[in-house]
Parts: sequence; C-alpha cells; structure tokens
Amino acid sequence: MSALFTGKVVIVTGAGGAIGRAAALGFAAEGASVTVCDLREEPAMQTVEAIRRAGGQATLAVADVSVSDEVERMVQTTVQTFGGLDCAFNNAGITHPEDSLWDEAVFRKILDVNLVSQMLCMKFEIPHMLARGKGSIVNMSSIMGVISQREPILQGYTSSKHATIGLTKAAALQYARSNIRVNALCPGVTRSPMVDAAMAMSDAIREALSNYAPLRGVAEPAEIAECAIWLCSDKSSFVTGHALVADGGYTAQ
Ligand SMILES: NC(=O)c1ccc[n+]([C@@H]2O[C@H](COP(=O)([O-])OP(=O)(O)OC[C@H]3O[C@@H](n4cnc5c(N)ncnc54)[C@H](O)[C@@H]3O)[C@@H](O)[C@H]2O)c1
Repeated sequence: MSALFTGKVVIVTGAGGAIGRAAALGFAAEGASVTVCDLREEPAMQTVEAIRRAGGQATLAVADVSVSDEVERMVQTTVQTFGGLDCAFNNAGITHPEDSLWDEAVFRKILDVNLVSQMLCMKFEIPHMLARGKGSIVNMSSIMGVISQREPILQGYTSSKHATIGLTKAAALQYARSNIRVNALCPGVTRSPMVDAAMAMSDAIREALSNYAPLRGVAEPAEIAECAIWLCSDKSSFVTGHALVADGGYTAQ
C-alpha cells in the first residue's frame, strides 16, 4: 500500500480546531506520523485519539505557538518522538473580539498568534528539514490575506494574514535552493464552531453564509485540509512562494 506521506513526519498547529483537526487526520490517513499541536489540551487530545482509533500515529504537543520556548519544545518533542521532520502546517490562529477597532493590545496579540508564531515555527522547523535535505511548509493565511472587507473591519486579522503571505514568499526564496518549499493557504469562510454559532444567531446571517461563495455556501474543513495536504506533498513539487486561494470563487467576484 502506498500513501502520500508514508514514513513522513508532519507538524500541524491549531490541530484541536476545525481545519487543523481535519488536516491532522488527513495527513495521518496518508501515512504520516503527526504532531498534534494546540494551546488547548483537550481538543488536541481528541484529535490524537481520533488518529489512533483510525490506526494512525500521532503525538500531543501542548504549546502556545506565539512563545519561542514553547515552539522550540514542540519541535523537539516531534523530532525525539518520530526521528525527524518533513512537513509542517502552521495553521493556528485567532480572530478578533467584537469592537476591537484601534485596540493596540488586540492588534499586537493577533499579530503575535497569527504571524510571529509562523516565523517562530519556521525558525525551529527548518533546521530539521535542512538535515533531511528536503521539506515543505504551509502557513495558514486567509482570503483576508489577499482582500479586505467593509463589514466587519478586521484590522489585526487582515494585517496578519496579508503579512503571512509576505513572510511565506521571503522564506520560500531563502530556502528554495535547499529544497524546502514554503507556501500559504488562503481559505474563504470554512465551517467551524464559530461559523456554526454565527449561523445560529439569526436568519439573516445564516442566509448570508449559505450564499457566501459562488460555488456554494461555506467550505468544509476537510476541503481546506486537502489543499494543505497537497501543498505539503510531493504532488506540488514545483510550487513554492505561492498563496493558494480556496474560497469557492469568492475573490473572483
Ligand atoms: N474557519 C474559517 O472560516 C477560516 C477562513 C480562513 C482562514 N482561517 C484560518 O484557519 C486557521 C484555523 O482556523 P479554524 O477555523 O480551524 O479555527 P479554530 O478556532 O477551530 O482552530 C484554531 C485552533 O488554533 C488554536 N490556537 C489558538 N491560539 C493558539 C496559540 N497561541 N497556540 C497554539 N494554538 C492556538 C486554537 O486552540 C484552535 O484549536 C486559523 O489560522 C484561521 O485564521 C479560517
């Protein structure tokens, strides 16, 4: 039996959440040994257990990806447990509390968790990929990395997701000759507990989200996970420095 990630080691951050869990399960189903990293232990452990129930290999790493020491420890745990590192999906992220326009503390926090975290992850992940002579990294951005919106205004989120694409391009060029590919992923609205809660708030919101993308409503987490898996895999071997938009046609309008 051949699978895309047989013998490969993959880190997924934010793997207790909607897209991260779908990706961790998807990588494991393709044969990868997966480090399931999240700030929240319980949902991350649920992801680990789901992978193991399905016959896959996973280890838990509770870490705040915006804190350098914790990222370093998470990567060390991965290498000690599985013997190296091949791929990483730096996916963890947060959005805004309501009414946070011009709020400096919120702005800094979002940049820390969504952007600085990805710099820290790559800083500690890449040396192990250099040791392997190969690697592939996907940094989670958003369609808010390529556009903005009028309502609601998401200052920090939009800034962080645009900057992820810049950071990704810089790293892609820096490591191109080292055979390490770095790409960004830009989903449109994707089903998650937050999106479900918003749909339950009013008929108007449900209606708006149901018609969000030209293709159909919102994405399922597994549809976005598939893009991350493809970008990490050898099937995208000539793709680097790219920001892949997966939004059902939203930004084509
Ligand atoms: N759901 C969407 O519509 C959508 C659209 C575009 C981009 N995204 C991006 O996709 C990523 C995943 O989003 P999701 O929808 O699965 O959300 P989610 O809230 O279900 O998952 C995010 C996960 O990240 C974890 N996390 C938050 N801060 C962390 C930290 N400091 N350290 C470690 N883990 C931390 C959370 O505990 C959570 O499990 C995010 O970066 C988000 O911005 C989501």
